[in-house]
Amino acid sequence: MTAQIIDGTAIAQKVRDEVKAKVAARIAAGKSQPGLATVLVGDRVDSAAYVGMKQKACAELGMTSFHHPLPADVSQEDLEKLIKELNADPKVNGILVQLPLPSHLDEERVLQLISIEKDVDGFSPINLGRLAQKGREPLFVPCTPFGCIYLLKEVGVQIKGANAVVLGRSNIVGMPAALLLIKEDATVTVVHSRTKDIPAVLRQADIVIAAIGRAEMVRGDWLKPGVAVIDVGINGIPMLNEDGTPVISQKTGKPRQKLVGDVNYAEASEVAGFITPVPGGVGPMTIAMLMRNTLRAAEIQQG
Ligand code: GUN
Repeated sequence: MTAQIIDGTAIAQKVRDEVKAKVAARIAAGKSQPGLATVLVGDRVDSAAYVGMKQKACAELGMTSFHHPLPADVSQEDLEKLIKELNADPKVNGILVQLPLPSHLDEERVLQLISIEKDVDGFSPINLGRLAQKGREPLFVPCTPFGCIYLLKEVGVQIKGANAVVLGRSNIVGMPAALLLIKEDATVTVVHSRTKDIPAVLRQADIVIAAIGRAEMVRGDWLKPGVAVIDVGINGIPMLNEDGTPVISQKTGKPRQKLVGDVNYAEASEVAGFITPVPGGVGPMTIAMLMRNTLRAAEIQQG
């Protein structure tokens, strides 16, 4: 079997176009531009790149972004003061604190402070608690897991009644992805570093969401034919020449890297029914869902 590739870039573009049209309609009706505050603590290159993409998406979709870069040694008190100001600012509809925070900061307290109506990341304990409870609805769900479910639905994968396996139990992806799948009536198993015989568990899956952060860990023979594979991993590995030596960049003189997921794509795409590529799968969906959540925040706050 050769898997159908799930084109996250195209699906994310469709979501962004819909958000852009709705934002334009709101502005034409005299409402203000939706606003997203981004808070970046420290100088992690990856976090700065992600926040930059989020600001750029806001500009492209007609939203305002308010960027708050803070030094790596900012105090808990000053960070909390900023969150309180953003909660009170009517121009700010959504608040995004880029994670991870430096280790001296209490992430839980910071996320708890964000007003639930502005919690466009869906990480506040109230939104996550509602996601975990039957009959309750969060105002927002975390963007990456939301994007994974959106992709499955978009290509017509049946979630209700499916055996779904989530690899990884992080607060940002694995755990909320498992909760969302349960809400969608899947039977869910969460696999982690202490799980016994991971390949045997994976072979039962109709849906796999891989978010464990280990390059190409999932092999083709761990998968049931026809499975839908959503690969959240983004791992840099050295590019190799045909003789196995590293490819050296002409420009920098350093070994060149390529991005791979948590799934061995070449093997898995021979077995799976559906698969997301890396890059171009889940990545673009995270930002598209953040834009959708920010528009929703403006709708909740301003009608
Ligand atoms: N770090 C990695 N992914 C995310 C995300 O979706 N939101 C935030 N705030 N931080 C992240």
